[in-house]
Amino acid sequence: MQTPLLEASGPIEASAPGKIILLGEHAVVYGYPALAGTIDRRIIARGRLSNIARLTTPKGISGASLAALRRAFAIALEATHSPPLTMTLHSSLPVGVGLGSSGAMSVAVARLLWKAAGNPAPTSAKVEAVAMAMECVFHGTPSGLDHTTCARGGLLLFQRNLVRRVSTLEPLWLVVALAGTREPTHEVVSALRKRRGNWPRRYERIIREIAALVREGAQAVRNGELRTLGDLMNMNQGLLAALGVSSAPIENAVFRLRDAGAIGAKLTGAGGAGGAVVGLFATREEATKANRRIRGFVTEVGSIA
Ligand code: MEV
Repeated sequence: MQTPLLEASGPIEASAPGKIILLGEHAVVYGYPALAGTIDRRIIARGRLSNIARLTTPKGISGASLAALRRAFAIALEATHSPPLTMTLHSSLPVGVGLGSSGAMSVAVARLLWKAAGNPAPTSAKVEAVAMAMECVFHGTPSGLDHTTCARGGLLLFQRNLVRRVSTLEPLWLVVALAGTREPTHEVVSALRKRRGNWPRRYERIIREIAALVREGAQAVRNGELRTLGDLMNMNQGLLAALGVSSAPIENAVFRLRDAGAIGAKLTGAGGAGGAVVGLFATREEATKANRRIRGFVTEVGSIA
């Protein structure tokens, strides 16, 4: 059944930004905090009423990812009671590299379907509930960090059941480099879960140390202490390597970013065989200059809704 809202407004659109994790990936899966923020690349969902529901996806999504996306889309349609739509997804965000593309996609789709169902300004709780159901299709048992950051925007200290906003005294400029070829997040997460299951005490020590870096990092951001934040990012990278989620392509990108002047550099997201690596810079100009060597992209983190 078509809603009066859609008949009156024609095509509709919704979007959500991607995210990076400054500190705390993987530890967040076990209930510890992580520090994450939105970046200025996003996923846009455009829809039109139709007799059947249909989805067109951005380049780079195929095979199992496409099947999962279709399943997640069907779940979201049902949860929002949206009328059928033809929906097209567009992305300025590199997909499947640890920059929150599935979280941003889930939030954009949820916002669009709530609109189509006659709720043009759904609460963040409504959007996040649908996005979480979609994220479970993509990642199995996600921490919820990705879609929550993409839905709320800004910079968050995220812990299961406790999400706090962190304000920045200084803008945070990053260069994002893409390294190697990435495995699906759930594979990297479940391989680590297995190692942690084999040697719980040793792995838990490292994970707790990452959580301590996150708490210090949130304070460093609040105080505008970029050098401290950079040092914490470098240490976090070392601990992620100790957990076994780094690789030669990632380490290579980390060292290239540091050689190009990054105050701190680390993988962001699940890591594994490859993916996004971020370097922190003191100013936008320094980030832009370094990026001429790195050939990734420059973004501010945490200022984007
Ligand atoms: C998410 O981008 C990265 C992980 O922490 C998984 C999760 O939080 O669900 C590895």
